[in-house]
Amino acid sequence: MSLINDLSWRYATKRMNGNKVSADKIESLLDAIRLSASGFGLQPYQVFVIENPELRAQIQPIAYGQPQITEASHILVFAAWNDITEEKIDAFMQLVSETRNVPVEALADYRGAIAGSMLQLPMEVQAGWAARQVYLAMGTALAAAAELKIDTTPMEGFVPAKLDELLGLSEKGLHSVLILAVGERDAANDYMANAAKVRYSKDELFVRM
Ligand SMILES: Cc1cc2nc3c(=O)[nH]c(=O)nc-3n(C[C@H](O)[C@H](O)[C@H](O)COP(=O)(O)O)c2cc1C
Repeated sequence: MSLINDLSWRYATKRMNGNKVSADKIESLLDAIRLSASGFGLQPYQVFVIENPELRAQIQPIAYGQPQITEASHILVFAAWNDITEEKIDAFMQLVSETRNVPVEALADYRGAIAGSMLQLPMEVQAGWAARQVYLAMGTALAAAAELKIDTTPMEGFVPAKLDELLGLSEKGLHSVLILAVGERDAANDYMANAAKVRYSKDELFVRM
């Protein structure tokens, strides 16, 4: 299975060489993220695609000086919704209706299932649920990038409140959850480039019943 080869090839790249990833490959990566699964299909997030070097230089100290932020070709900031509201659910139902060419009224049960399980939750729980969907999108991105032979670093190592402030995310009803640095490995200077993958054995990881 070629995906296994791709996943063996990828690693969380510590040093990148500044080379640009082609626009075609970036668009394919964004297409894959767009196709990620999410709870109810709601996609409760937005992804900020940041190429601007000055902005990335401002983000670097917020990410504890990690070099990939400026050595990458692009960074993607995955930001989750702060809450799930009637308006957001209705906007999504409208999209379902238009995409599948069914009247909104025919989607009442679907809408009810989302509203019934989401709207009564405290806002922090809604935000946490939204953030979990971001992690799934990140997983999709990592696999897709590996298939495209793009190097990546998934990153939680940053101060979310500071990044939110810099990017004005609160005003947009969003909070930053993850950064994905996207670029090309600097194999000669990356101590992780040839490191063996550390993973539990299948006997330890899987409980077959
Ligand atoms: C949610 C998440 C956050 C991570 N944050 C960082 C980070 O801030 N900086 C970094 O260099 N690597 C980060 N990593 C990379 C992990 O350390 C790496 O994926 C793990 O050690 C497994 O190695 P591999 O991805 O190279 O196979 C993160 C990984 C994940 C999944």
